[in-house]
Amino acid sequence: MEIVEKMTLNVDRIRKDFPIFDYPDNNNLTYLDNAATTQRPTQVLEEISRYYREYNANTHRGAYRNAEKATLAYEDAREKIARLINARSSREIIFVRGATEAINTAARGWGDRFVRPDDEILITEMEHHSNIVPWQMLVKRRNARLCYWAFDERNGMLEPDGLRIMLSSSTRLLALTHVSNALGTINPVKEIIHAAHARKITVLVDAAQSIPHMPVDVQDLDADMLVFSGHKLYGPTGIGVFYAKEEILNAMDPVQFGGDMIEHVDYFESTWNDLPWKFEGGTPNIAGGIGLGAAVDYVNQIGMEIISGHEKQLVQYALEKLSGVEGVRVYGPMDPDQHGSAVSFTLDRVHPHDLATWLDQHNIAIRSGHHCAQPVMRKLGVPATARISFGVYNTIQEIDRFIIALEQAKEYFSKWL
Ligand SMILES: Cc1ncc(COP(=O)(O)O)c(C=O)c1O
Repeated sequence: MEIVEKMTLNVDRIRKDFPIFDYPDNNNLTYLDNAATTQRPTQVLEEISRYYREYNANTHRGAYRNAEKATLAYEDAREKIARLINARSSREIIFVRGATEAINTAARGWGDRFVRPDDEILITEMEHHSNIVPWQMLVKRRNARLCYWAFDERNGMLEPDGLRIMLSSSTRLLALTHVSNALGTINPVKEIIHAAHARKITVLVDAAQSIPHMPVDVQDLDADMLVFSGHKLYGPTGIGVFYAKEEILNAMDPVQFGGDMIEHVDYFESTWNDLPWKFEGGTPNIAGGIGLGAAVDYVNQIGMEIISGHEKQLVQYALEKLSGVEGVRVYGPMDPDQHGSAVSFTLDRVHPHDLATWLDQHNIAIRSGHHCAQPVMRKLGVPATARISFGVYNTIQEIDRFIIALEQAKEYFSKWL
């Protein structure tokens, strides 16, 4: 098969890095829920374990050897992340729990400071709840307005005229996803940021679904703020990144107050630490940061371009195969160049939850539900979709296996309907 021959990734070799596939209970597991979370390679697990076993200590505090070692490892991870997204400096990399906490930090630390009554926050109709609810709360606090840039439900693309129509002299911020987790759409964020900047509008990019799957360069995009989660990038849960340009971080207020984030504390007043620690109150997720650094090493060692090319072939193949199944409706763009690593679909007269449960009995893990994007479901006119999403270890053979099981599910459920 042509697609298989084109692959430059040794997936058999890659799969050996992921112990979950060898665990007896997961015998023959086809894991197609990578948009929710990815699996972790041994390299990441070992690095976390090494920290706890060999040099466990708090960071930035002790003057003894292990404390210095822990601090160095944690700060080294920050450097790796800065390089991964081509930040100007690691001072622009704030460790948070994940994309959700990063957006909440932006809404509190930037929004509460700079959004005035009657200002507008523009988001798109395809956002994850994490990029909706913090802005809903901000506009309530600030007496501002939340506006939506619509997408076309026929192809899952943002309305081409939407930005021109929706941007106004009151728009203070545009917050949008790079890749939709519910539709798979890859948004042309570079062009969008350029257009927003021409009107002096600050832009936040939700890169939760792009960072694990394609090279992302914050300087090339000229993103003002950008967020992602470590667990979708083969790293641990509970760690993620809030990136913002240094001048923005300097102008923002911190949102977590306590130890580590201060420079000086007096009885009634305090001053803040330098970047990035100004935003990292309390003992950080040290093992998480170190683990995320190891995950960055892991993807770099394979090469993000290679991962991206591999997954594009999987997406192309899945789009073709799924559209060939009668009764299946695929959502989002059909062009693999515009479609990220998640593919959403419905099967006529079968609820996505029933389908996912049926596939689970065949050791195929897919996602079903609203994918934390209820406005997308409302627009599509469905309560839920089924979603398959790919990672570096997935194969064409797994898609074939999934398609065969899907056809069988269709036959099985047709008996009951
Ligand atoms: C596009 C998008 N944004 C934000 C999030 C939230 O990520 P987390 O739950 O890791 O904070 C997700 C998670 O699925 C996502 O897909």
